[in-house]
Amino acid sequence: AAAPAINPSILGCDYAQLGQEIADMEQAGAKVLHLDVMDGHFVPNFTFGMTIVEAARRATELPLDVHLMMEQPGRYIRQFREAGADVITVHEEVCRDQSELADLVAQIRELDALAGIAINPPTPLERIDKVAGNCDLILCMSVMPGFGGQEFDHVALEKLAALRDRPDVTAFLEVDGGVNVETIADCTAAGANMLVVGSAISGSDNYRQRIVELERLIK
Ligand code: DX5
Ligand code: ZN
Repeated sequence: AAAPAINPSILGCDYAQLGQEIADMEQAGAKVLHLDVMDGHFVPNFTFGMTIVEAARRATELPLDVHLMMEQPGRYIRQFREAGADVITVHEEVCRDQSELADLVAQIRELDALAGIAINPPTPLERIDKVAGNCDLILCMSVMPGFGGQEFDHVALEKLAALRDRPDVTAFLEVDGGVNVETIADCTAAGANMLVVGSAISGSDNYRQRIVELERLIK
């Protein structure tokens, strides 16, 4: 399995200084950036679309991990890829069934991006059991998506551990929501190797110090 990587979310950053914020994250040691797209429909909040992904793409060469919290993601996958997304993750909850989810995975891979599937805390693993062995990333949400700064839901840990123990699952295992100095070690112990961190980094006054601190907890 891949070594665990901290994946800072730009959700809480200052968008008036996006380029500088991204440069700061990169200098602080980020190896991947997590971009949260919210449509005001699948989740009760809006963030941004492909315009900002494209702006982030011009600000850094780091891989961009784009988390699509939106309905009908298939309509926009190509545009997010063209904007510079390297990983595109779609939610199970917006799909009719697993064959629709498998089609989205195929569509993302067709564009030479890595294909991720995400499940919310109440969504059981059975809902993705047929596609889990045939995607590039599985995101177990540890909060209901929509906002940064929420409390970590431990239900994600059981799912991560179950996925880690499935021999056919080779995908990155990602966790997102409430990951901080208190919860990060439990996540890697359960098998997560992509650790999305929002407010624990963006809310700290020293990004580098916080990333180093988090890294120490998972090594
Ligand atoms: C939540 C987003 C997260 C968010 C995490 O809906 O998907 O990526 O940025 O923020 P924290 O780490 O503050 O929970
Ligand atoms: Zn996210």
